[in-house]
Amino acid sequence: MVLWEGRFKKELDSKTNDFNSSIKFDSRLYKEDILGSIAHSTMLGNKNIISKEDSKKIVDELNNILNDLENGKLEIDKDAEDIHMFIESELTKRIGDAGKRLHTARSRNDQVALDIKMYLKKEIEEIIKLLKQLIKILVDKAKQNLDTIMPGYTHLQRAQPITFAHHLMAYVEMFMRDIDRLKDTLKRCDIMPLGSSALAGTSYDIDRDMVKDLLGFREVTKNSLDGVSDRDHIIELSSDISIIMMHLSRISEEIIMWCSWEFKFIELDDAFSTGSSIMPQKKNPDIAELIRGKTGRVYGNLVQILVTMKGLPLAYNKDMQEDKEGIFDSIDTVKICISTIIPMIDTFKVIKENMRKAANKGFINATDCADYLTKKQIPFRKAYKIVGNLVAYCIEKNKTLEDLTLDEYKNIDKTFEKDIYDAIKLENCIKNRNLIGGPSNKTVEQRIEEVNNFLEN
Ligand code: ARG
Repeated sequence: MVLWEGRFKKELDSKTNDFNSSIKFDSRLYKEDILGSIAHSTMLGNKNIISKEDSKKIVDELNNILNDLENGKLEIDKDAEDIHMFIESELTKRIGDAGKRLHTARSRNDQVALDIKMYLKKEIEEIIKLLKQLIKILVDKAKQNLDTIMPGYTHLQRAQPITFAHHLMAYVEMFMRDIDRLKDTLKRCDIMPLGSSALAGTSYDIDRDMVKDLLGFREVTKNSLDGVSDRDHIIELSSDISIIMMHLSRISEEIIMWCSWEFKFIELDDAFSTGSSIMPQKKNPDIAELIRGKTGRVYGNLVQILVTMKGLPLAYNKDMQEDKEGIFDSIDTVKICISTIIPMIDTFKVIKENMRKAANKGFINATDCADYLTKKQIPFRKAYKIVGNLVAYCIEKNKTLEDLTLDEYKNIDKTFEKDIYDAIKLENCIKNRNLIGGPSNKTVEQRIEEVNNFLEN
């Protein structure tokens, strides 16, 4: 059955039908479509736009269709144009004329806009839940590594001492911001477009607020043209997900480095790494690499929807049907990536000795050595130069700052006293950085507690 029979004398050519159809990818909206239709029909009956009996028949049968779909009793017809057409024609097949009344005062344009918003709302909640699980794992791992000293890097060169806890907690900050961004996007998904109809609203005395309340939306859209042609929320979520993937990709990159023989800071669990088909010695971080790789695809989805939307005149254009595959793919991808990285992080073994060994080399306490002199009234630039000379001397003698005798220190500058050794001890360098945001145990533990409180609420 063609829903626009009347104007048309022929069925759509079958290849063209395949091209035009979106059912392959929008069938995942079946539940949102049915719940939206139930709310719409309830409102139509309540306002006597259709009879209460017809409204009830529609609602009951839509519930049956939902059950049948979920129990596998009803299969989605892959030849239908889209999920909206499929459900409406199935309804009409089952209850006749009453079914034909469902689409009163509605268009597929506001219908699809509604379905997508409902779907995104649900998925945003899911992604937030997963991010919270990931944060929990990172926080737990951090807690076990409050005393694990490692070099912090800039330019991938050993820079200053930190703890592995502090390093992991940096990712916690990123994923916390990601949750915040998702919650913000959620606000704009939470505006109900039904009633915009095709583009110019409707002259029926519908009750948009009732539909909004039935479906649990925050408010209704305020312009019918915008209501059917706004896809900002899809772009926003696509962007949020791209940023999450960027964070996942960065931690994946570090995991890949850390488990290389060059670093060997961690050992991945066998269950989350792979071997080589030819090199018997290999243990590869494929999972982390795949997450890093999939990030590119998710960025592609963001660019695609931005480009699709940029030239479209108001209001609905069929180009907008191209809004779905990309965001669905980004949602699926970010969910599987978070779910996969959680156990990988949870199970990797931290090789504390190797982190400590790396921290002992590379003069990562040189800044603290300069600060020591500065605290003894030497201007910082002068102190910087003195320590530069010390480091050059150490490199020549193949020594670390800790190895130097007090005489060697004094030869370079008389200001040095016995207390220099305390000042450059890595444990002290970290302990003394106890400002907000710093790596000291006290600060990191405090932040862990704040994050745990956030997770519990
Ligand atoms: N399948 C369409 C989409 O996803 C539904 C809206 C179609 N509206 C229209 N006037 N052709 O965008």
